[in-house]
Amino acid sequence: MLVVALVVVVAVLWWVCSSWRDVVSGRAAGVLPASRAPLLLIAHPDDECMFFAPTILGVLQGQRPLSVLCCSAGNYYNQGETRKKELIKSCAALGIPPDNVTLIDHSDLPDSPTVMWDERLLSSLILNHIQEKNIDLVITFDEGGVSGHSNHIALYHAVRSLHSSGELREGCSVLLLESVSVFRKYISLLDLPLSWLCSRDVVFISSGRQYKQAKEAMLHHQSQLLWFRHLYLLFSRYMMINSLTFLHDEKAEKKS
Ligand SMILES: *[C@@H]1O[C@H](CO)[C@@H](O)[C@H](O)[C@H]1NC(C)=O
Ligand SMILES: [Zn+2]
Repeated sequence: MLVVALVVVVAVLWWVCSSWRDVVSGRAAGVLPASRAPLLLIAHPDDECMFFAPTILGVLQGQRPLSVLCCSAGNYYNQGETRKKELIKSCAALGIPPDNVTLIDHSDLPDSPTVMWDERLLSSLILNHIQEKNIDLVITFDEGGVSGHSNHIALYHAVRSLHSSGELREGCSVLLLESVSVFRKYISLLDLPLSWLCSRDVVFISSGRQYKQAKEAMLHHQSQLLWFRHLYLLFSRYMMINSLTFLHDEKAEKKS
């Protein structure tokens, strides 16, 4: 009985999702500042498709250019060289050409959950890239880092400090991927009502075709496809739904 009810609920949600998807991605694309050069800022090869696939596919669908800056080679298990290549292939599968993917492989920014990345170093590397590529929208993790990985969180702190110190050029906005509770994280599409209710500035929802594309991209991360990753692909909400908020000017907020 329960199983039947669950299947019905998912089927209805799926239907609602696919019929509303265009409206939603239209709204999302509309909210994104026009004719921009957005940058997706990630910490490890595979963050792009494990967490940001709906955003990437939504941005590209809106005919916007996109580039990726990855701040480590993901060398925790000494697979850095393999993982660099996997990143390029995965991005290509998502529609981002190799020329638009940059990887920083700095010995002081190792892939490790126990190493706090130096904020000054990280910020200055990110800022260089932003200036060089004329980036005016940065998309990255929020303070929860989705999975709580300290390298993800370091990106948030680096970007926030660039933002609040005014080093980001005028008009460069920052979008943060919302971290949700573990419960919401693994209910896939069932999280749809919550994502809608707790409406964020931008919500991207993948179509069935986009979900397949994200899964194909993930298959390029061969070195990462341990058994539990397959469960992740099935159940993670981040394979289907991304909700993001703009980073607001702290000073302006205090005044108002
Ligand atoms: C890659 O970057 C170039 C230069 O910024 C841009 O013109 C192009 O649209 C980007 N490609 C994609 C698929 O985003
Ligand atoms: Zn990561």
